[in-house]
Amino acid sequence: MPVGPFTLADVEREARARLPSEVWDFIQGGSGSERTLAANAAQFGRYALRPRTLVDVSACDTGLDLLGSALELPVGVAPMAYHRLADDEGETATARAAGRAGALLVAGIFASRTLEEIAAAATGPLWLQLYWLRRRDALAALVERAEAAGYRALVLTVDAPRVGRRLRDARNGFAVPAGIRAVNLDPGLMAASHRSAAGASGIESHAREQFDPALSWSDLAWLRERSSLPLVLKGILTAEDARLAAEHGVAAVVVSNHGGRQLDGALPSLAALPEVVGALPPEIPALFDGGVRTGADVAVALALGARAVLVGRPVLWGLAAGGEAGVDAVLGLLRSELEDAMALLGRPALRDLDRTTLAPWPGVP
Ligand code: FNR
Repeated sequence: MPVGPFTLADVEREARARLPSEVWDFIQGGSGSERTLAANAAQFGRYALRPRTLVDVSACDTGLDLLGSALELPVGVAPMAYHRLADDEGETATARAAGRAGALLVAGIFASRTLEEIAAAATGPLWLQLYWLRRRDALAALVERAEAAGYRALVLTVDAPRVGRRLRDARNGFAVPAGIRAVNLDPGLMAASHRSAAGASGIESHAREQFDPALSWSDLAWLRERSSLPLVLKGILTAEDARLAAEHGVAAVVVSNHGGRQLDGALPSLAALPEVVGALPPEIPALFDGGVRTGADVAVALALGARAVLVGRPVLWGLAAGGEAGVDAVLGLLRSELEDAMALLGRPALRDLDRTTLAPWPGVP
């Protein structure tokens, strides 16, 4: 009897079978026509791999240092709200699995376990993602707690001055189920995410009330005054913003279109990666997310200049399909597929994954 899963797509199928359809839609969906969501994955098909031969690949090394933390693989868990939608244990299960894999975990501001619970479960590097809340006092309190709990970087998501039009959630009247909460924020702040307003999901009305759309470059100073942790901006898609990020002293950026959940029609994130990398000084790494589903996808993103990738949905598929063991499977598959790709490419170290690794897929315009 074969045992699986053999691919992340196997895990996806299992998750879909187990989750209520409106939760599946919340996880899986994008904004608008989902054009950007589809393009994120499709963009990987534009590249062919150029294998080199007669290279000693008896040891492939997937390890790296990222902002001073040692990782065993160039993969992290992207920040996502409410892991408990997928599995009752939630973020603490994710944290244990990420630690075991030697992967980074970026906990989300809308985590359904406390920052302290997540930190206690984590054995690897942990970063905290923030949105720019109108309630600056709540933000300041989170930063303080994150520092105290041992988080090593703050990731400010900058592609969400408002929430994209998630039509699946609107049509489903999706609201976060009672019993699952963004426990790191005070309940009054989050009440709207449990109500679904006409034509808008609970998430959307909540964000409208809580996110401050006035965020601009000069506000970054506020965050930097409150914390000595490295600041990472998530949601950069242009060379212009990459240059401004560097001028404002960020430690890293995440090239991301929020998994196609924000501006529908935005560039596929892989298409934006070269221009962002080209605009950053070499000491500021670019991370990448959007549509990474195989170890070969990781290799392509690294070859285009990403230092590491984040994966979003597949981690929630893992949780839904098998709890903590499901996340182990997802991260384990990505690692073994990446090692396979490196060996078969004749590129046994991450630094060997450069532009010469890639060619345009023949016939694809
Ligand atoms: C997200 N994402 C996200 N990003 C963020 O900065 N803060 C958040 O709270 C969330 N929440 C969230 C929930 C769910 C269910 C999903 C699927 C995504 C976006 C996430 O960090 C990442 O950018 C994308 O998920 C990456 O794309 P893939 O790997 O899902 O294709």
